[in-house]
Amino acid sequence: MDFIEIDKDKCNQDGLCVAVCPSRLFEYHKETPPTTVKDIESMCIRCGHCVAVCPTGALRHRSLDIHRFETVEEEFRLSSEQCEAFFKGRRSIRAYKDKPVSQEKITRLLDIARYAPTARNSQGVRWLVVTDRAEIKRYAGLVIDFFRVVLNEGVPGINPNPHLGKLISDYDAGTDVILRDAPAIIITYGDKENRLAQNDCVIALANLELITSATGLGCCWAGFFMTAAANYDPLKEALALPERHQAFGALMIGYPRFRYQRIPIRREAKIVWR
Ligand SMILES: Cc1cc2nc3c(=O)[nH]c(=O)nc-3n(C[C@H](O)[C@H](O)[C@H](O)COP(=O)(O)O)c2cc1C
Ligand code: SF4
Repeated sequence: MDFIEIDKDKCNQDGLCVAVCPSRLFEYHKETPPTTVKDIESMCIRCGHCVAVCPTGALRHRSLDIHRFETVEEEFRLSSEQCEAFFKGRRSIRAYKDKPVSQEKITRLLDIARYAPTARNSQGVRWLVVTDRAEIKRYAGLVIDFFRVVLNEGVPGINPNPHLGKLISDYDAGTDVILRDAPAIIITYGDKENRLAQNDCVIALANLELITSATGLGCCWAGFFMTAAANYDPLKEALALPERHQAFGALMIGYPRFRYQRIPIRREAKIVWR
């Protein structure tokens, strides 16, 4: 088949595919179905918008089988009130039940999170899931080792946080202040040569955080861990990511021990209008 095929009997010439294509690869004609530009194959980012938007299903894309597209279920759209409650009700969860999160559950979460937007639809986000408690403990220990180096010897580009000393002493006294005894850690990583990989990884994790909070699980961004993962060779070695890849974000995840009753106050949005 051609790269794009439009069934002229089904096409109602509404121009929607022309309007939504981010790469402007369709040309509109008043009397006939749209045509495509030259070299479409190399310019198409396979975002699927043209297939997804067509109300009559007239458009077929060689790389994107329409039969694999799920239908948008109107009844599942959140109301604005539900959205507001959902987004405001998200909390960073730092106290977890001593209960593992099954591989099946995590796989299901990631199967949803993979729908997060990625720059030029690269879908290059990769996931490292760690559920081995000993391994998580080892990572937390390496982060503390890194902070000892920061405090005692200094690390260029890293300002010693005034609380590092307390963090280390709390850890030494037996509290995992780094990864919070979470039963699982989910790390996103990507190609370090791709300048937008970091954005994609962080967006995917932000989506995962929201999905997680809708499933009875809870999570928290692992910022201390990320600082060490970007700067401390022993932790990079422990993560053993493929060559040319870098960790760009990490979440601790588990079953929350507590339930929040109120939404904490946050500062007003600072907005510049032009
Ligand atoms: C970091 C980032 C940068 C993006 N930049 C652009 C952009 O400059 N112009 C644009 O039209 N779309 C941009 N997008 C949107 C992506 O092309 C889009 O997410 C992708 O094609 C998948 O489509 P979807 O978001 O509808 O799933 C960007 C997305 C991300 C995550
Ligand atoms: S898949 Fe996306 S980029 Fe490719 S032709 Fe369709 S709308 Fe355009």
